[in-house]
Amino acid sequence: MDVKKILLIITGGIAAVKAPELIRRLTKHGFKVTPVLTKAAEKFVTPLSIAALARSKVYSDLFDLKDEVEMGHIELSRSADLILVAPATANIIAKMVSGISDDLASTILLATDTPVMVAPSMNVRMWDHPATQRNLALLDNDTVKLIGPNKGEMACGEYGLGRMAEVSEIVGSVEQFFHSGSLVGKHLLVTSGATREPIDPIRYITNRSSGTQGSAIAAALRDLGAQVSFVTGPTDVPVPLGVTAYHVETAQEMLDAVQELLPVDGAVFAAAVADWRVDGIQDKKIKKSTSGDVPELKFLENPDILAIVSQHAKRPKLVVGFAAETDDVIKNARNKLSRKGCDWIVANDVSSSTGIVGGQNNTVTILDKDGVEAWEELSKTEVAFRLAQRIVGTLA
Ligand code: C5P
Repeated sequence: MDVKKILLIITGGIAAVKAPELIRRLTKHGFKVTPVLTKAAEKFVTPLSIAALARSKVYSDLFDLKDEVEMGHIELSRSADLILVAPATANIIAKMVSGISDDLASTILLATDTPVMVAPSMNVRMWDHPATQRNLALLDNDTVKLIGPNKGEMACGEYGLGRMAEVSEIVGSVEQFFHSGSLVGKHLLVTSGATREPIDPIRYITNRSSGTQGSAIAAALRDLGAQVSFVTGPTDVPVPLGVTAYHVETAQEMLDAVQELLPVDGAVFAAAVADWRVDGIQDKKIKKSTSGDVPELKFLENPDILAIVSQHAKRPKLVVGFAAETDDVIKNARNKLSRKGCDWIVANDVSSSTGIVGGQNNTVTILDKDGVEAWEELSKTEVAFRLAQRIVGTLA
């Protein structure tokens, strides 16, 4: 396999403390990371920990002759497929713009003809300062891509633009850089979140789905260049940028939105759709009875969106369902695969002890006609990325 090489330049901002996590994630995605630290970065992270995580020598000194023998700065700057500066201080951006090369990091950036990605991180006033804004405008958009920064609370206690993009966003941008072509021209549909089934105008029945996994899948497919239609019930997480969202509440509304969107190339049904809706929804708030009688709810079965789309005249080439189970996970998932007629089932154990529902991690098993593939515990972002890669294998 062609291992992509990333030269990661870590400069001296507080967000450098996120560099170990960034390296871990990039490495998990199969990238080879060679770290370069500025002197200021070494105040926030130790070269030893960075070297251990990247399983690579850490480069920091321009005048280290041994380095010049092993790999000079010119070669270092050209040996990578991508140079990633994260975090990037106002200082390194200013140096990049004016061609200053007074340490290894800035010299590499001046000597390279490799594409560069920059994840700025600085105090909001430094970001807003006319000098920084002028420098940003002068960065060459053809070779330098900005990732973030985001708006948010800063380590210094202030709030505003300048917070480094999240590690998952940076990894997403890197993936997009290398694989952006894989799903270009493909239209993918993703359902996500819970549904809300009303009882009366005030009350409803729902479930604990947070929408985290569905959002991550939509973002991963977008990163690979797909056009993504995202049909979502109410969730705890924001809609990923760059996808087209359709907000629904009930299962019936979700079905209508999904059918409207067909045909699509592939569909991933990550939503936790309520299996039942209330029969006889009251149009006025149900009053508490003075005699102590409690209302009885009757249920009707909801349409099974996954099954309907799997048997649809406009069936997508690839239909992926989820199976959230609390027992006999694989057996139930296998039944679901044949009963619903989808191509893959992503099965997971959602017993409360696993912490999967509402959590950040997921342990899934993929079932298809060829067999069973168990994945180790991964973050929901990693699960999404791997799933997206698997989808590339089928659709691209
Ligand atoms: O039958 P069960 O709810 O366990 O099936 C889960 C899978 O089916 C998920 O992919 C879910 O999004 C989908 N589903 C659906 N419509 C329903 C119920 C489930 O699309 N009414």
